[in-house]
Amino acid sequence: MAKGIGYGKTILFGEHFVVYGLPGIASAISDYTVAEIEEGEKGLTLIDNRPAVEGYKKTKQGEISRGFELILNFMKIDVNKTPLKVTLSGNLECASGIGASAALASSVARALSDYFKLGLNNDQINEIAYEGEKGSAGTPSGIDNTCSTYGGMLIFEKDLSGGPNKIDRIASNPLEIVMANTGITQETKLVVEDVKNEKDKNPEKFEEIFAEYKKVFDEAVIALKNGNIKRVGELMDKNQELLRQITVSCPEVEKIVTIAKENGALGAKLTGTGRGGLVICLSPDSQTADNIAKAIQKDGFKTSKTVVGKK
Ligand code: MEV
Repeated sequence: MAKGIGYGKTILFGEHFVVYGLPGIASAISDYTVAEIEEGEKGLTLIDNRPAVEGYKKTKQGEISRGFELILNFMKIDVNKTPLKVTLSGNLECASGIGASAALASSVARALSDYFKLGLNNDQINEIAYEGEKGSAGTPSGIDNTCSTYGGMLIFEKDLSGGPNKIDRIASNPLEIVMANTGITQETKLVVEDVKNEKDKNPEKFEEIFAEYKKVFDEAVIALKNGNIKRVGELMDKNQELLRQITVSCPEVEKIVTIAKENGALGAKLTGTGRGGLVICLSPDSQTADNIAKAIQKDGFKTSKTVVGKK
């Protein structure tokens, strides 16, 4: 059976800002989605066995079928002529903010390459996964599919003129992260559109916020390279403040951020789409990470732990 995988991701700095050509920092996580493809009976049969938070698959139904349509069109695959059965699984629990749609697109692109014996390389897989992401994000920056496809921690900068995006690997000390789930699933496309409307209404305010963000980013690169984890945390807090200003935080995110900070997190911010989804909390060590996770769980939110940026 043909098979492909795509990693989940976490954005450390720059969600939404990357849509406007500012640089961001993101890392793949070790959990991934698996796509298996075999001959189908009629058209496209999709079996979705991925673990997911409640409500995720229902909210994302439209995005998932749009994504498939875009990938198949881009690859010029006609499922009426070549019926396909796609089975999705893996250990990545689908939730808003974890890059589940990108992991799906990337895994499906790989599995299709395998099924049709196309021998596509990572760059080609990434290009296809980007098409699939358009089903979710409308005008995606490409940061999610790039992480899903290549893995590791990277600096990403979208080329707004349509040229190749800038992708640079970045080595950092391992970062202990608690991921907390607000339980709210958002449609990325809608939130991205909403932010664009806000920007169109207040162009000057957004220019100022963008300039502030760029300073945060520049400092974050230095702090990560120098292993200055404390500073990385402070800069995450600053990034969260800017995310608030562009209206993508929400009370549940704020609650988790507050609990995390009260329990020893060096920094905490939403990751990905926002207005729900996931919050990442940077911990100085594994024991503190356990304490942060327990405190957040007490308030009824689910948590998981991950380590990103191993050298
Ligand atoms: C979603 O994970 C990240 C956003 O910046 C959208 C994008 O980059 O396409 C909100």
